[in-house]
This record gives sequence, C-alpha cells and structure tokens, in this order.
Amino acid sequence: MSGHQVRIVEVGPRDGLQNEKQPLSTDVKLELIERLAGAGLRDIEATAFVSPKWVPQMADHAELMRRLPRRPGVSYPVLTPNLKGFEAALEVGATEVAVFAAASETFSQKNINCSVAESLQRFEPVMEAARIAGVKVRGYVSCVVACPYEGPVAPARVAEVAARLHGMGCYEVSLGDTIGTGTPASVTAMLEAVAARVPVGQLAGHYHDTWGMAVANVAASYAFGLRVFDASVSGLGGCPYAKGASGNVATEDVVYLLRGLGADTGIDLDRLAEVSAWISGVLGREPGSKVTRALRAACAG
Ligand code: HMG
Ligand code: MG
Repeated sequence: MSGHQVRIVEVGPRDGLQNEKQPLSTDVKLELIERLAGAGLRDIEATAFVSPKWVPQMADHAELMRRLPRRPGVSYPVLTPNLKGFEAALEVGATEVAVFAAASETFSQKNINCSVAESLQRFEPVMEAARIAGVKVRGYVSCVVACPYEGPVAPARVAEVAARLHGMGCYEVSLGDTIGTGTPASVTAMLEAVAARVPVGQLAGHYHDTWGMAVANVAASYAFGLRVFDASVSGLGGCPYAKGASGNVATEDVVYLLRGLGADTGIDLDRLAEVSAWISGVLGREPGSKVTRALRAACAG
C-alpha cells in the first residue's frame, strides 16, 4: 500500500466558509483560493451558486468567479443545485460544477427544499446543459452514514443515489458523512455497498470530523481503494442544514496521513500549514488542524 497518487479536493472556500457567521469579503476568499493553489492544491471548490437567502456567505459567488485568476492545471468547481445556479455559474466562466443530493429524505428537504427524487430530476437539465457546454459535473451524496434528522442511513440507499448520479453522467461521486458520525467500520460497510454499483475509481470520500473519526475514515477508505478525498484547510466548516456538524477533515491532516502511508498528493505541507494559520488568524481562532499546530509548535520550539 504505497506510492499511490491521491487527489485532494479542497473544499475550504465553499464547505469551510459557508457556515461562517461573520461575513467574509470576496478579497479574503480570493486570497484563500490563491494561497491554496500556491500550496499545490489542484482542485479547489470555490463557491456555491445557491440562494443567498439560504446561504448568505456564498452570495458573492458571481463576483468571486469573475475576479478569480485561473491558474493552469487548477480546477475550480462550484456547487449548482439547479439549472438557475448552473446558468449563473456558466455565465461567469465555471468549467466544473457539482450537483448535490442526499441519501436521506428529511435532509434533502431541509437542505434543498425538495425530495431526493425531485432533486435528481432537477439535475437532469443541469447534466444536459453541462454536456452541451463541455462542463464537468461532480455529484455529492450527503448523509452517507447517518442523517441529523432520521438517524442511521442504510448503505443500500446511499448506493442507489450514488448510482443514479453516476448513471446520469457525474464523473465522480463524493460520499459525504455530513455529520461525521461514521467510523471505519460503518464507512467501509457503506463503501462496499456503493462500490458494487459505482467503480471505486470514481468515488471520493468527504468526511466531516464532528466525532473526531474523519482521519480514521480517510485511512480506512484509502485501504478500501479510494484515491480521492475532500478536505478543508484548517478543518473549517459545517453544513448550515446539519445542526452541530463541524468542519471537514483538515487538509493538512489528510496530507500528513497519506504521506505516512507513502501516497503522493503533490501538496506542500509546510505551505499549506501557513495558509491554515493565516485563514485561522483572519477568522480569529486557532488552526483546527493538529498537524498545523504541531508544525508551528516545532518551529517555535
Ligand atoms: P427554493 O426556495 O425551493 O427555490 O430553494 P425556488 O426555485 O422555489 O426559488 C426561490 C427563490 O430562490 C427565487 O428567488 C429563486 O430565484 C431563487 P426569489 O424569487 O424568491 O427572489 N433561486 C436561486 N437563487 C440563487 N441561486 C440558485 C437559485 N435557485 C433558486 N441556484 C434552493 C431551492 C436549492 C435554491 C435552496 O434550497 C438553496 O439554495 N439551498 C442551498 C443549500 C446549501 O447550499 N447547502 C449547503 C451545501 S450542501 C453541503 O454542504 C453538503 C456537502 O458538503 C456534502 C456533505 O457534507 O454531505 C456538499
Ligand atoms: Mg460537506
């Protein structure tokens, strides 16, 4: 188990910031994205074309995408829940988008105000418009282990939604443990069910760290064969429609873990830790990554 290339999808500017109560300027968000690219991230989820009434922090999506300097070799996917969001994203030059569904009916209603079946129907015209425009589409499934409203979610249900997204043309399906209650055992059981319907090479792990299990879940998923992980610098984030959910697994922690497993992420850990310390300073808190705290303590000592 060594020498594998692993792709990390940095979701800090979107998942990480969407739940921040203090309004952040577009300048800060642009600087964050630029610094992340400077640390070697090649997939940076930049913003979400969702309703500003639902997620005020993402209200500057169009301005951000208009001003974002595109670096060659870097992809800047954005969330698009429906055709309206897709068209707005396309207008400001998005070349990759993500549609997002859930394996739980109640979460789907709370998050995007429609049933799971309705959400999949809404994605069809997005997929069609994306095909015509040559835009890549990633798919998310939320609540792959448990739902904040309904409790445990059956792996077969996750597999069904993941297979629908894959079947409609998503190049990759990211599996979200939205409330971070998964453990290596429950995550592996879920992956077994999903991998029977969608090739492992087209799956990504998206694990929130609410219960402190996210790094363990990345390790278990890597052992299972996943080679793509979503992570958020400094462990920023949470979902506004999943009460109490904390941030994603910290990107620094994933990079350190994978390096220890002999995998190559192409990310400069020292530079990433600097980005983490910088954005944490902007937000007025300590970095959420233990790796960053340890690196800084080692430097100070
Ligand atoms: P709705 O109210 O059902 O939509 O919201 P509607 O079609 O009835 O339209 C109502 C209003 O919203 C109209 O404006 C539309 O124009 C506007 P009004 O006439 O009232 O002024 N509207 C939009 N505005 C901007 N962008 C759009 C858009 N669509 C309609 N795309 C909607 C449905 C999906 C828009 C809403 O529920 C929404 O924006 N939800 C966002 C939820 C969200 O962003 N959640 C967080 C991201 S998901 C997540 O974090 C999980 C993930 O990380 C994986 C994991 O961890 O599990 C991905
Ligand atoms: Mg998330």
